[in-house]
Amino acid sequence: FLVEKGNHRHFMAKEIYEQPEVVGHTLTQYLDMANGKVRLPFGDQIDWKNLSRLTISACGTSYYAGLIAKYWFEKLARLPVEIDVASEFRYREAPLPDQGLALFVSQSGETADTLAGLRYARQNGQVILSVVNVPTSTIARESDAVAQTLAGPEIGVASTKAFVCQLAVFASLALAAARARGTLSAQDEVSHVQNLISLPGLMARALELEPEIEKLARELSKAKDVLYLGRGTSFPLALEGALKLKEISYIHAEGYPAGELKHGPIALIDEDMPVIVVAPHDALFEKTASNMQEVAARGGRIILVTDAKGAAECGIEPEATIVMPDMDPTFAPIVYALPIQMIAYQTAVFMGKDVDQPRNLAKSVTVE
Ligand code: AGP
Repeated sequence: FLVEKGNHRHFMAKEIYEQPEVVGHTLTQYLDMANGKVRLPFGDQIDWKNLSRLTISACGTSYYAGLIAKYWFEKLARLPVEIDVASEFRYREAPLPDQGLALFVSQSGETADTLAGLRYARQNGQVILSVVNVPTSTIARESDAVAQTLAGPEIGVASTKAFVCQLAVFASLALAAARARGTLSAQDEVSHVQNLISLPGLMARALELEPEIEKLARELSKAKDVLYLGRGTSFPLALEGALKLKEISYIHAEGYPAGELKHGPIALIDEDMPVIVVAPHDALFEKTASNMQEVAARGGRIILVTDAKGAAECGIEPEATIVMPDMDPTFAPIVYALPIQMIAYQTAVFMGKDVDQPRNLAKSVTVE
């Protein structure tokens, strides 16, 4: 069927703007909102309590969603997680444990490497769960349980709304696992569920920052290289930000864990390379702030994505600050993904690039 752009210039813009709605829609399938509880559509099909390990595999943006999920499953559910890109996982002959769950993440459900990884896990005795956007896809059909993202058809080659819906599903799965494993009190479940319910409203507010982000595009478009930094769940967002910028603007970009800066990349810092720092005021903020100070002391230009408290306490004067609404930090990546996507989008549009059909890329990589 036909999907139209409506009054947006590109499918990517339309899909960025749909995010509050599709995340809300996805969450209604995973939460009992009235009672503040998680309610998985596939019920008790997964024995979270007795799992020894979760193995996650995916490609590209779906892999970065899996990386964020690792933080949530480990912290909230005390469930050990192994994660690898599918093109490595499928060949590295990893030993997989008894009582292991393998989780594959894919918008299309047709990515060749991810499917091969799934088949390897199946041969090695894992229960297979997939997080997919297309329920009729091969990956969905070959899974024991399917957690669907309700993002609707994603047309832009650069994944946006599928990513945030994957995160919304992972947040729900991590809470379900935590409840089953006895690491989450009923009271904490209610407060996490309330936080999840508040996300679409916060995402709508993040979208209002677009005019400010648009102003950054001119400067960013002049850069040859851009460095993205983050800690904790902001680290995979740094990776995702760099991937988005590379894909659609063709500017070279790298994502790095902020704490790795002094192990190499700090040598690159100069006034020509913008450094985009993703840092909500969470438990790790001070650590990231000291990394920012190191960058600033070497003449680096920082674009900071944070909240009001972070802006007040960063200890430097960034070249630009995108001030996000206040929110609980646990699931903040679901909201912080939006400015990251808009930075890439606005830069690529300013440069006149074909954001929906970037060169050399296919929406679904069905061959190796
Ligand atoms: C993201 O913007 C990409 N174009 C790409 O990395 C994508 O996420 C990857 O190919 C995985 O696709 P899938 O989710 O359909 O498996």
